[in-house]
Amino acid sequence: MKKIDLNEQKKTPYIDAYLKYINEHNSCFDVPGHHQGNIKTDFDKIFGHVVYKNDINCPRGLDNILHPSGCIKEAQDLFAKACGADSCRFLINGSTSGVLIMLLSSLKAHDKIILPRNVHKSVINGLILSGAVPVFLMPEIDYGTEIVNQVSYKSWKKAIDANPDAKAIFIINPTYFGAVCDLKKITEYAHSKGMIVLCDEAHGSHFYFSSHLPLSGISAGCDMCTLSMHKTGGSLTQSSVLLIKTDKVSNYEINKAYNLITTTSPSSILLGSLDAARKYMVFNGSKALFKSINLARQFIKDMEGVEGFKAHGKEYFVKNGCYNYDETKVIVELDNLSITGFELYRILKDEYNIQVELCETYVMLLLFTVGTKKKDVDKLLEALKDISNRFYKKDMVYPDHRFGQNIPEQIMRPREAFHGELEVVKLEDAVGRVSKEIIMIYPPGIPIIIPGEKFSQRIVDQIKYYQSTNVTVMSDNNGAEYVCVVKE
Ligand SMILES: Cc1ncc(COP(=O)(O)O)c(C=O)c1O
Repeated sequence: MKKIDLNEQKKTPYIDAYLKYINEHNSCFDVPGHHQGNIKTDFDKIFGHVVYKNDINCPRGLDNILHPSGCIKEAQDLFAKACGADSCRFLINGSTSGVLIMLLSSLKAHDKIILPRNVHKSVINGLILSGAVPVFLMPEIDYGTEIVNQVSYKSWKKAIDANPDAKAIFIINPTYFGAVCDLKKITEYAHSKGMIVLCDEAHGSHFYFSSHLPLSGISAGCDMCTLSMHKTGGSLTQSSVLLIKTDKVSNYEINKAYNLITTTSPSSILLGSLDAARKYMVFNGSKALFKSINLARQFIKDMEGVEGFKAHGKEYFVKNGCYNYDETKVIVELDNLSITGFELYRILKDEYNIQVELCETYVMLLLFTVGTKKKDVDKLLEALKDISNRFYKKDMVYPDHRFGQNIPEQIMRPREAFHGELEVVKLEDAVGRVSKEIIMIYPPGIPIIIPGEKFSQRIVDQIKYYQSTNVTVMSDNNGAEYVCVVKE
């Protein structure tokens, strides 16, 4: 990667223009209609009046997100340089919009794309919108924790060889649970076959700012990467970026997709937070991330001997077949505890005021980010010790909750099923029918079934199991007691 010009990275062009505008005390006859807080609402109970005062759209001086040529362009260019990309586009609807832009700019209807089955629902939405044909690959599963990890290089190579007509491949770096594949080798192989490499870095924006973490998508040679800066890069919720370094997709196609997906009313607060987070991460990211990695490592050590739990990090995952692992994530496995992960999630929040990223049946995912404080890690440790005293049960026999992990049979393209004629049936009557909808639990937002796939008994049992645990099963038909299938 080219050396970053640190003097240049001290600049914050968007924030400077934003501050200038605010300090001018302009009289407003534009949107947003609260006119910088000329009304009082209950929102002030949380923020005072500061959010309204500084909430502007794209007035004169603050550039145009759909055609950037001023402070947004300068801030995007600085971001691109900080990450080694050729260009960057700011996103204010999360990596969800970045994923859609990557897919819509690279694929047309009936184009083939190779991708792991554990992709986020935004990818499925991109398949519906583009009309592309997915070739799903089964990722490797860690049977100890039942976490779905990455597709191995061997499986990627086999799939690329078997589908020479595929236009693109789509890689997740890292998965929600932190697993990383041999991104560089897979990217090089796909490129050697003329395929575009798209990279979902919703959980990997911090990789760009630390040498202690796995390789970033742009460093590995991917054509486009979408980063949720708001998840692990210190910016505000929803703010993300799309990084571009490609000769395979034209600027025209990228702009076309960007303009299709992006609001004409971007929040200045979100845009400003991207400019600020980029500078923060360039100058403080490495140190802050090293601190969080060490907090995570220490936490794993401190959990040794806490009965009912096993904490896992990079060492565990690499030993069990992962190519690499994001050390800012810690998986805590429930082991001989008389509660499920779903109950643990609720108990931690309701009884200890601790909010964790996610729990599944027998695992909990913790994020150690640039914002993690030692005092909070200590509080979590004490809470888990207390929960261990309350719920550890030496001879606990867990009920069987394994549903098998094969890929559902794909009967038609996601877009075709999405537009197919609707029939609503009871979940238990859906076996053998083709889904019109995505059904999933969130987090992690990885679909159990997607449009075009056939319901099997295993899928029905899995959805019923989640319904019985009181987690929210998300579907187009509220809770999936009834499901939407394609009329036969
Ligand atoms: C793997 C993955 N990709 C994409 C997204 C979408 O990101 P965002 O929430 O920033 O829209 C998520 C969100 O959780 C995700 O887990």
